[in-house]
Amino acid sequence: MTEIKLKPFQKPLTGEVEVPGDKSISHRAVILGSLAKGTTNITNFLNGEDCRRTIDAFRKLGVTIEQEGTSVTIHSDGKEKLTEAKQPIYFGNSGTTARLMLGVLAGLPFFTTAYGDPSLTIRPMDRVVQPMRLMGASITGREKGSYLPTAINGGNLKGISYTLPVKSAQVKSAVLLAGLFAEDVTEVIEHAATRNHSENMLEAFGADIVIKDNAIRITNQSLSAANVYVPGDISSAAFLLASAAIVPGSSISINNVGLNKTRTGIIDVLLEMGANLNISNKKSISGELIGDITVTQEDLKGIVIEGAMIPRLIDEIPVIALLATQAEGDTVIRDAKELRLKETDRIEAIASNLTKLGANVETTEDGMVIHGKTSITGGKVVSYDDHRIAMMLAVASLIADDAIIIDDISSIAISYPDFFKHLDTLKTP
Ligand code: S3P
Repeated sequence: MTEIKLKPFQKPLTGEVEVPGDKSISHRAVILGSLAKGTTNITNFLNGEDCRRTIDAFRKLGVTIEQEGTSVTIHSDGKEKLTEAKQPIYFGNSGTTARLMLGVLAGLPFFTTAYGDPSLTIRPMDRVVQPMRLMGASITGREKGSYLPTAINGGNLKGISYTLPVKSAQVKSAVLLAGLFAEDVTEVIEHAATRNHSENMLEAFGADIVIKDNAIRITNQSLSAANVYVPGDISSAAFLLASAAIVPGSSISINNVGLNKTRTGIIDVLLEMGANLNISNKKSISGELIGDITVTQEDLKGIVIEGAMIPRLIDEIPVIALLATQAEGDTVIRDAKELRLKETDRIEAIASNLTKLGANVETTEDGMVIHGKTSITGGKVVSYDDHRIAMMLAVASLIADDAIIIDDISSIAISYPDFFKHLDTLKTP
């Protein structure tokens, strides 16, 4: 437990930073690099706990992976040469490792057991286990395979056509990864676009993947190694963008951030709320759009966030809720029931903490209503071991009337190990 007491800052933020590499893209680079034949070099890899779990998983499956900070080199003989793990695989706190690895392990013709930390152990795995069983994998686990720990007997998969019952890029990716091992065509149909990094990266690794309307098709094939540059994580940038949007007099830039359309809901929300935001230096690299974002503080107003927008900003909702407390009028968030299934029940975690800090938040089954604008008081708050809740609370301290004491900030290392260092570099002396 690492408790922290954050004194109010109440001065403008200025300057520029680069946030660490994208978490979703870092996971996928390790996965595809391990399945591809040859040497894959990854630069700007997110050296956080979740992504290291994915590296560990493939090391257990016999892949040679060297990691030095944000540089990763993978030497693999291809997916056919992976070997049975001698030990259970530990997914830690990482939902992405668990769901995507289940897709890979379903395809591998041997036996694997896997488990996670207490938070991951109560997050649903049936959303991946069900399509894997339809493809022919044999998976058992707690509550009939709905939860970790789990045991997988993979191999002999058959392609399926699968319409996603939940708007989840993790489920989509698991089915596509299993499709790399399956007989015939595997098709995923999604009715709302979710992050498409798996599709982009499969193309970058030479895969023949067909994307037409809302269907994605893939077949059993070999991948070739590639070099991957991981763009800055817009989900991490969101905490700094929000800080600059609410601390009076602030103006900051975040450079080389991923601007993939399936992830930029936070930019649309900031603009709709009235933030002064500009994007420059756009370019495409390793199949992903990147650029620099500048935000200058401006008065904000409440908005409605719902429907197809939700998957484009699902991980940013904790900090968006904080923004909403500083916006004039009501902000309504709906269609976001998935928040209840994240590292913690984020609807309750957001509402209980912000209420303690003087905000006016009403929860609903699938979201919340935030009545702004209210000042942020100080006091004791709880991160629930959730990195995005902890960082949202740290941002709140910038504009608080009194010190905010967060019970435990160690989870921040999951996605943004240098968060406080970067925040400090933006603090005007
Ligand atoms: C992720 C997808 C999202 C997101 C998570 C990362 C991914 O989860 O919340 O942080 O890398 O595919 P869902 O697929 O459950 O929506």
